[in-house]
Amino acid sequence: MGRRVAESASVNPPPPRGAHRLLEWGVIEVVALLAAFSILSILHILWPWLSGRGAAYSTSRARAVRWAFELVGVRGKRVYDLGCGYGVVLAIAKSMGAEPVGVEVDPLRWLICKAVCRCRVLFRDMFEVDLSNADVVYVFQWPSVNAKLAAKLARELKPTAYVVSYMWEMPQLKLVAENPQLKVYIYQSIYNV
Ligand SMILES: C[S@@+](CC[C@H](N)C(=O)[O-])C[C@H]1O[C@@H](n2cnc3c(N)ncnc32)[C@H](O)[C@@H]1O
Repeated sequence: MGRRVAESASVNPPPPRGAHRLLEWGVIEVVALLAAFSILSILHILWPWLSGRGAAYSTSRARAVRWAFELVGVRGKRVYDLGCGYGVVLAIAKSMGAEPVGVEVDPLRWLICKAVCRCRVLFRDMFEVDLSNADVVYVFQWPSVNAKLAAKLARELKPTAYVVSYMWEMPQLKLVAENPQLKVYIYQSIYNV
């Protein structure tokens, strides 16, 4: 019996203790790094909402954006995207002949958007940006944020300006067109009294 154990040990010698420890630490570190990366990525998406500034990151459907921009006509117009993310909406506006202006509060999204879109992208909180020169304002935020934004839009925008809200309605403003299937709502910038 004792001889068999001794024989199998010589066929498969155990790894040296030091190397075994290193291997264990390597696995633990990789798992810890992956977990930290996942947590940071989730926080990066959620932080605007967690800090009460606006919606977390998500992106509009290109079909919905095009439908709205074709309806209001954006060629030659100044189109703001409040919370522009990585610039999907700005790129569509640009491709349709508009002058796009993005506003983004997240530094990484702002940087990537600026590099990708090659247009004006302000690294600012949208509530601090003067919108009096906007022809069209695109918004993909959340209902509670839309309610706060509506007062600002009604106060600052020209009467001819349009507000396009994706996903959520903005009942405080005057609805002029909608596409419930694409979840797009188009408003004029006057208070719905
Ligand atoms: C739902 S995403 C919309 C992204 C893009 N507009 C689109 O439709 O694809 C909301 C974006 O708003 C940004 N955001 C949230 N609060 C903001 C604020 N107060 N000022 C500027 N950007 C804000 C977030 O960082 C996020 O990128």
